[in-house]
Amino acid sequence: MDLVQRRVLVSAGLLLALASNFAMPRHALAAEKLKVGLMLPYSGTFAALGTAIENGFRLHVTEQGGKLGGREVEFFKVDDESDPSKAADNVNKLIKRDQVDVLIGTVHSGVAMAIAKAAKDTGTLLIVPNAGADAVTGAMCAQNIFRSSFSNWQPGFAMGDVVAKKGHKKVVTITWKYAAGDESVKGFKEALEKGGGQVVKELSLPFPNVEFQALLTEIAALKPDAVYTFFAGAGAVKFVKDYVAAGLKKTIPLYGAGFLTDGTLDAIGPDAEGLLTTLHYADNLNKPRDKAFRLAYAKTFKLQPDVYAVQGYDAAQMLTLGLKATAGDVTKKAEFAAALEQVTIDSPRGPFTLSKAHNPVQDFYLREVTGKENKLIGVASKALADPSRGCKI
Ligand code: PHB
Repeated sequence: MDLVQRRVLVSAGLLLALASNFAMPRHALAAEKLKVGLMLPYSGTFAALGTAIENGFRLHVTEQGGKLGGREVEFFKVDDESDPSKAADNVNKLIKRDQVDVLIGTVHSGVAMAIAKAAKDTGTLLIVPNAGADAVTGAMCAQNIFRSSFSNWQPGFAMGDVVAKKGHKKVVTITWKYAAGDESVKGFKEALEKGGGQVVKELSLPFPNVEFQALLTEIAALKPDAVYTFFAGAGAVKFVKDYVAAGLKKTIPLYGAGFLTDGTLDAIGPDAEGLLTTLHYADNLNKPRDKAFRLAYAKTFKLQPDVYAVQGYDAAQMLTLGLKATAGDVTKKAEFAAALEQVTIDSPRGPFTLSKAHNPVQDFYLREVTGKENKLIGVASKALADPSRGCKI
């Protein structure tokens, strides 16, 4: 072999080595399963919400042929019980023990704060498919943290505007005493006061208690023009039934963040008829995207979808969009974030974008309960963005 031949061989070898160097990781990545950690409530007052989120998420994965970003999906699940005191241990099981690529969680704001802290500390990708804790896309925001749902402030603010425009001046609020309830009331109050109304009393009870009687007696004595509430899941069912049983629905109009009547109408029954709520979803949006989603969901799970199912579905859609930009690599955080910051997400709720702090900028609908549906009345707040105070990414 002469020098020229040897040079050609060495160059060819180098080229091969280079090519395989570039090709290898991508091949290796595509062959590796994408580990998705679902940290959701599968027991307690929010159990049905957790299941709807998982169903929605799985529906999108199925529509993608079982793969996201070219990688087969493997699920790891933890029941967080909506218990903030167990949250740090629970999220560690997914991060340290199972070594998941992405966390999807959760419903309860207090638990979500612990998940967000762990995601921030470890750099694990997190998509929050419900919990509205303002800080998650506020002071705690990060390049690797996203939300497919809402901030607690948003539906509250939308309803405050509606109630003010109805001319109600003196309003009592009632909720669970934790981040979601407090922040929902704060958003409501802000818009109500802007519109000339006033919150005359803020009532609350600890999460997830449902002994409403004494508070309902207090509402009857206060005789406000209206009541605003944040309750969800099984607690919402009991609250509406108790409000009606106390004879209050006929005399003091009840308004709520839409969680009050989303996923709860089968259990509440006729007591919910006519209730007005605000949320980023309704049951008769009548858009092709939503119709197709509702049909596929009902076929697959033999259940009607609700806002939680939509948020789970969109969490999976967001993951797909991010993975497309990074060839399936969740560690490319800057590219992943840049893709999601630019994209419009084609959600069953209607298209939405993400704010700089990674919270949905979206329409909030006014809905009225008619039979078993949250019927669309109109748009209460168009393209409402969370103020996201204190976020620096
Ligand atoms: C929350 O804790 O942030 C939360 C829980 C249930 C909902 C909405 C928000 O339906």
